Amino acid sequence: MISGSTKIVGLIGHPVEHSFSPPMHNAAFGELEMDYAYIPFNVYPENLKSAILGAKSLNIKGFNVTIPHKINVMKYLDKLDPIAELIGAVNTIDFKEMKGYNTDGIGCIRAIEEVTSIKDKNVVVAGAGGASRAISFYLARENPQSIAILNRNMNKAKSLAEDVKNSKLMDNVNFDSTDKIAGYVSDADILIDTTPVGMSPHINDEAIVKAEDMHSDLVVNDIVYNPNETVLLSEAINAGATPVYGIKMLLYQGAESFEIWTGKKAPVEVMEKTLRKTLDLSR
Ligand code: ATR
Repeated sequence: MISGSTKIVGLIGHPVEHSFSPPMHNAAFGELEMDYAYIPFNVYPENLKSAILGAKSLNIKGFNVTIPHKINVMKYLDKLDPIAELIGAVNTIDFKEMKGYNTDGIGCIRAIEEVTSIKDKNVVVAGAGGASRAISFYLARENPQSIAILNRNMNKAKSLAEDVKNSKLMDNVNFDSTDKIAGYVSDADILIDTTPVGMSPHINDEAIVKAEDMHSDLVVNDIVYNPNETVLLSEAINAGATPVYGIKMLLYQGAESFEIWTGKKAPVEVMEKTLRKTLDLSR
């Protein structure tokens, strides 16, 4: 119930109608009996500055930020988390300090760390777009043995690999063409697919790697969450590898944002249950 003391957090984006975050966060607040409400706000690009300043004046506690505002919003904030600054995009704002964070990449790390540690592992990242960028810097912070960024357009992979190296988080960052992925995967411990291959409605796309090129000690994460089991994860299961479903990144980026705003540990079980219900996933 909304009361005189309810604290407001929310989402700004354009559009925001199809977001899964409002039910997930409101379920979390309900579970912990916290007097908070999470509200979606459809903010047109030309209104971004006034939305941020207005939100501060309205004593709004925090925002998630989605497309198309993740980059432009940074100029209206006082502080940036160092990794968000390296990534160059923000998906979470804490109005207490007018500070921006990027929890997308941490979401992926936490999802993988449910099944394996990243330290000293060989990691292959497919794709070199926005999602890959958010994930790659956080991966580098976990001290893996190596990161190989593979992309169709090799210049983008090269440029991201150089940015990660220049961050001084780690040195052993390589790049190559996605065509070479089978060779990389045979020596890898962890594969993260950040491309949209297999995303609904293209669920019958050809997977970027086939079961025959995987091995049973491999952990395979597809950040696509619709369908739940992408063609890549089916191949991983056929190879006896360990799948990490895309829904987990969605869950943990939300959990991280919740923890930034409230200082409390996020109730991830109820958040995941709500996400699955909203996404209509049976497993
Ligand atoms: P996001 O923000 O989700 O990362 P993006 O920035 O558009 O989205 O990046 C999509 C990534 O998936 C890109 O690296 C893209 O490769 P290119 O840079 O070569 O375009 C990759 N990608 C998209 N479709 C792909 C496909 N069919 N096969 C392989 N890679 C694909």
